[in-house]
Amino acid sequence: MKHVDLVIGARLNTEVPLVREVAQYIISAGGKRLRPALLLLVSGALGSRHAHRHTLAAVIEFIHTATLLHDDVVDESTLRRGRATANERFGNAPSVLVGDFLYSRAFQMMVDVNDMRIMQVLSDATNVIAEGEVQQLMNMHDTSLNEASYLKVIRSKTAKLFEASARLAPILARANSETEAVCATYGQALGTAFQVIDDVLDYEGSADVLGKNLGDDLREGKVTLPIICALRSANTSQQTLIRSAIEEGDASHLEDIVSIIRDTGALDAARASAAAEAQRAMDAASHLPVNEYSSALLQLAAGLLERRS
Ligand code: IPE
Ligand code: IPE
Ligand code: MG
Ligand code: MG
Repeated sequence: MKHVDLVIGARLNTEVPLVREVAQYIISAGGKRLRPALLLLVSGALGSRHAHRHTLAAVIEFIHTATLLHDDVVDESTLRRGRATANERFGNAPSVLVGDFLYSRAFQMMVDVNDMRIMQVLSDATNVIAEGEVQQLMNMHDTSLNEASYLKVIRSKTAKLFEASARLAPILARANSETEAVCATYGQALGTAFQVIDDVLDYEGSADVLGKNLGDDLREGKVTLPIICALRSANTSQQTLIRSAIEEGDASHLEDIVSIIRDTGALDAARASAAAEAQRAMDAASHLPVNEYSSALLQLAAGLLERRS
């Protein structure tokens, strides 16, 4: 991971000071670096130490960071990684444009790797993420959204990049197609569970630990699994309160809505759905060679449900 950070630092070079300033601002705030870690762990599990793994891990983190810069503009979020978002600090225009810089830098780096399969996986993933974010935009304020439509969005906007991270390792290692499928399933299931928990934490997390504000989803009128589950079992007056908050994008009753979501068992139901995805990830990981890396992949999936940040 230190090597990945070195690549990240080295590839932020540009002659345009504002690009460096904005990119450094968000990247130096840290982040969990989960997706690069995933690529390296899957490589380790497959016994592969391909020279390009750090570059591709950095490519994945650049794509992730670009999506965050754009996402915070779209979501009008003001806190990320424990500090003001780039849009809050520098404005929307620099955030969008530096996001574009990071996307295109990631593509320059992947072209250097010069493997058509890898370019295919990463360009498909980037395109699907964009589709997911646009689909989500179209779903805003729609209280009739069901779990299947929600799942489709999160598989695109979040799980796809996890899937790509996990899939690049077997491609680099020239593993067979069964192994590639197992790794892709692991990444997809892990990413899905990860986003479900993110959506739970948006209601019951701690902003200090999470480094993001709570209630961002409600404020935007975003229908996530806790809301879908709550609407299923809430009484009429509770349903009315939730519906109007989502339709208006109004978080002024956040505390009441958190109570409803908790009392109707919706947070537990969402956590159970994340647990099922985490189990699917573990089942996939159990097909990998047994070593310290695959055991870390199992722990990662098991520990996801307890994450607070
Ligand atoms: C945030 O991802 C976006 C989601 C998919 C929920 P992370 O929680 O991995 O963000 P950082 O990189 O650790 O800040
Ligand atoms: C994940 O969705 C965003 C991307 C995958 C780009 P969210 O909007 O829930 O992520 P956070 O909560 O802002 O990190
Ligand atoms: Mg967001
Ligand atoms: Mg979120």
